[in-house]
Amino acid sequence: MKKILVLHGPNLNLLGRREPQIYGSQTLVDINGLLLERAQQAGLIIDFKQSNHEGVLVDAVQAAGEEGYNFIIINAAAFTHYSIALRDALAAIEVPAIEVHLSNIHKREEFRHHSVIAPVVMGQICGFGADSYMAALEVVIRKLK
Ligand code: DQA
Repeated sequence: MKKILVLHGPNLNLLGRREPQIYGSQTLVDINGLLLERAQQAGLIIDFKQSNHEGVLVDAVQAAGEEGYNFIIINAAAFTHYSIALRDALAAIEVPAIEVHLSNIHKREEFRHHSVIAPVVMGQICGFGADSYMAALEVVIRKLK
């Protein structure tokens, strides 16, 4: 069975009570639950990891390359904007990745407009709340067919 890894970066563990006017009221557990349901329906294995630590996410990306994951869906949160380490890890592996954001980063503060990981992923989906993740999963399902 094909396997997908969903990576969530810093502060996404606080979803639901973190700036709900920007990030919505769904918790990370809610979002993971929706992704799990859709992935199971499509006959795919899906695993989830959230970390507030850059190195843990770098390790997870490296491990995804070694553990036979077929796709990564990543919301690198604030690391999106400055983690060269995460960018290099994504560039180093063969596993394709899709970058997602709940909010439309291009409509927000200028420092959020730039993604250092965008050039090393397949594409970016942002601005649709939890549906950014769901849309990414639909792309993955189509690509893995
Ligand atoms: C975010 C956008 C980032 O700029 C921010 O640092 C986050 C969440 C999003 O999902 O909209 O933590 O990645």
